Formats: sequence, C-alpha cells, structure tokens
Amino acid sequence: MVALFDPLMLGALDLPNRIVMAPLTRARAGREGVPNELMAAYYGQRASSGLIISEATGISREGLGWPNAPGLWSEAQVEGWKLVTKAVHDRGGRIVAQLWHMGRLVHPLVSGMEPVSSSATTAPDYAHTYEGKRPYLEARAATQDDLRRIVGDYARAASNAVAAGFDGVQVHGANGYLVDQFLRDGANFRTDDYGGPIDQRLRFMSAVLEAVGMARVGIRFSPNIYSQGVEDAYPIALFEAVARRLEEHKVPWIELREPRHPTSAGAIPTEPVSPAMRPLYSGRIVINSDYDWGDAWERVGAGHADAVSIGRLFIANPDLVKRIALGFPLNEGDSSTYYSGGASGYVDYPTLDEARAA
Ligand SMILES: Cc1cc2nc3c(=O)[nH]c(=O)nc-3n(C[C@H](O)[C@H](O)[C@H](O)COP(=O)(O)O)c2cc1C
Repeated sequence: MVALFDPLMLGALDLPNRIVMAPLTRARAGREGVPNELMAAYYGQRASSGLIISEATGISREGLGWPNAPGLWSEAQVEGWKLVTKAVHDRGGRIVAQLWHMGRLVHPLVSGMEPVSSSATTAPDYAHTYEGKRPYLEARAATQDDLRRIVGDYARAASNAVAAGFDGVQVHGANGYLVDQFLRDGANFRTDDYGGPIDQRLRFMSAVLEAVGMARVGIRFSPNIYSQGVEDAYPIALFEAVARRLEEHKVPWIELREPRHPTSAGAIPTEPVSPAMRPLYSGRIVINSDYDWGDAWERVGAGHADAVSIGRLFIANPDLVKRIALGFPLNEGDSSTYYSGGASGYVDYPTLDEARAA
C-alpha cells in the first residue's frame, strides 16, 4: 500500500512526499505582475511540500485578468520569479509554474485589451478589476491567427519558466479559463476544426501541450465542476477522450480538481471523473479539493490517485507536511486576506516551532 509520505516521480520531477501544494492566486505581484521578495518568503516557507504548483501566472498581458497576479512574459517577471524559485530550492523544495490564459474572464480594465475566447460569449457574474467589480464583456472569437499567437505565448511562457528556475510547468486547463473554454460544449460553439465534436474541442489543448513540450509538463482540469459559466453536456465522455489524448501525448502527470460535494467552486453536475480516466491514462494523477490528511491518505492508499494537492490548508499552515506527519492541529485560515495584498495573512502564519517558541 502506498502512503502519502512515499516518494513519487511525476515525469522528471522527484517528489519526496505526495502532498502537493495546489495553485493559489494570492495577488501580491503588483500591476506589472512582477514577483518580489515577499512572494519568495511565502513560497520558501512552504518548500517542504512534495511539490509547489505556483499561483496561476499570466502567459501574456492579454491572458491575465486578475488584479496583481503575476505574469511570465517579461524579463522583469522572469527576474522576479528567480527570487521565488531560489527561495524554494534553497530550502530543498520543487516548484512548477501554472500557466494561465483567462480567455473571456479577462476584463479590459485589467489587461487594457479586448477579451478573446473560443467563441463570442460573455461570462456570467462579475470580474475583479482595479476599479471594483464589473460585468464581463463579450469576448471575441479567436481567429486562426490569434490561436497561433496564443500558442506561441504559451511556448514563450514555458521557456521563460525554465529561465526563471522553475522545475516545470502546469497548464491551467481548469476552472472555466481559456483551455476549458475550448474543451466544453457549453462555451465552444466554433464551426472550424477547433470546435464541434469532442476530438476537435481537444485540439487547442493539444496545441498548447505540444508547444510547451512534454518533458516537464502537467495539466490541471476541473472535470466535474460547473465553473465560471463553463460546463459540458457529457463530461464523462469528454474527459475519457481527454485521458486518451493525454496518453497519446505521454503527458507525465495531471491534477484533477474534483470535489465530491458542492463547494465554493460551484455546483458539481457530475460525480468525480477520475475513476473513468484512471484506466485510460497511465501517467500520474494528483487529486484535489476538500481533502484533509485522513481521506487523502485513504484515496491515495487505495490507488485512486498517486498524490493529493491541498490548497487552503497550505495558506494557513506553511509546515503542513510536518503537521500531517505528526498529527498536529492546524492554524485557521483567514479568507479576507486571500487577495488583500501585503504580508498580513500571507507570510505570518506560524509554524509549529514558531508557535511553541511564542
Ligand atoms: C485563494 C484561492 C486561490 C486559488 N487560486 C487558484 C489558482 O491560481 N489556480 C487554480 O488552478 N486554482 C486555484 N484555486 C483553487 C485551489 O487550487 C483548490 O482547487 C481549491 O482551494 C480546493 O482545494 P482545497 O479544498 O484543498 O482548498 C484557488 C483557491 C483559493 C481558495
């Protein structure tokens, strides 16, 4: 039986344990999206996780619509990320960059540009902008030229990630962002070969993965969530096809955010999809959402997945792995500081040792 503290290879990544830090947007990079010493301190504190997946990181100005989130398109951003990767490596950790294009979820008040998506659609609800919440605007359907350019932006961001010292990248294919906007029949109404039947809706994802390269890539999905207006009529059939395609591409690992109960992530129209994907895909599967160490241990031990990624508990517990190992109590997180900027609620959650010394 496999345990959470057994090592694991995720492609070329050598993890000392199977407790992964999930990607968490924290909005501390300023308007130019340049990582800084504060971010380096935060990630460095969490280096004992088996792997850190960075917060979602814009591949281009056009693709980044979250205020103060970081990017990976400029030299200054690469230099900023070097502080972060060094802090993590100096403390013995590993970190991959989550590559993000938000598609129709980008508001021009953040990007200065018109939003682009698979089809001309408008996301429901409101965008966070520097001027408060604003309704989303209708996106333009990407032309073939747009698609070539955007795929090129992914490739540039991936090579910038390597230059910045990351150990790999994760393509953000979850939560209703651009890759998801291509995958699902509730957002992709294209009549060219990037839309229509499932195989064609996978084409954009494939192009992105090929551009990034398989050696050090993973990809995240949220197969059973209705997220930010994006859903699919046949999620099981869709994600079985995704699993087969990833097997063909030899993508070494995937992360599935698939809650078993409705959560803040939204409604869950279907059961978890990972049982249907597991027999079709021989790479490693990291599962996510609402796990504590008890049920994570059980699912990984039972062979349903190879590792678990944990989000909110890592915000409040920089030494989460040690606390799990020792069965120690956890700090309570404060959601009001998730995106508030500054050090408070970011780098000031005490470790066990700090709590004892206080
Ligand atoms: C503050 C916050 C920021 C998040 N940012 C991201 C993100 O940048 N990329 C992403 O794929 N998911 C993001 N998520 C989702 C988490 O990665 C994770 O799926 C979710 O918190 C459920 O896992 P948990 O129950 O262990 O917290 C975010 C969640 C929270 C609470």
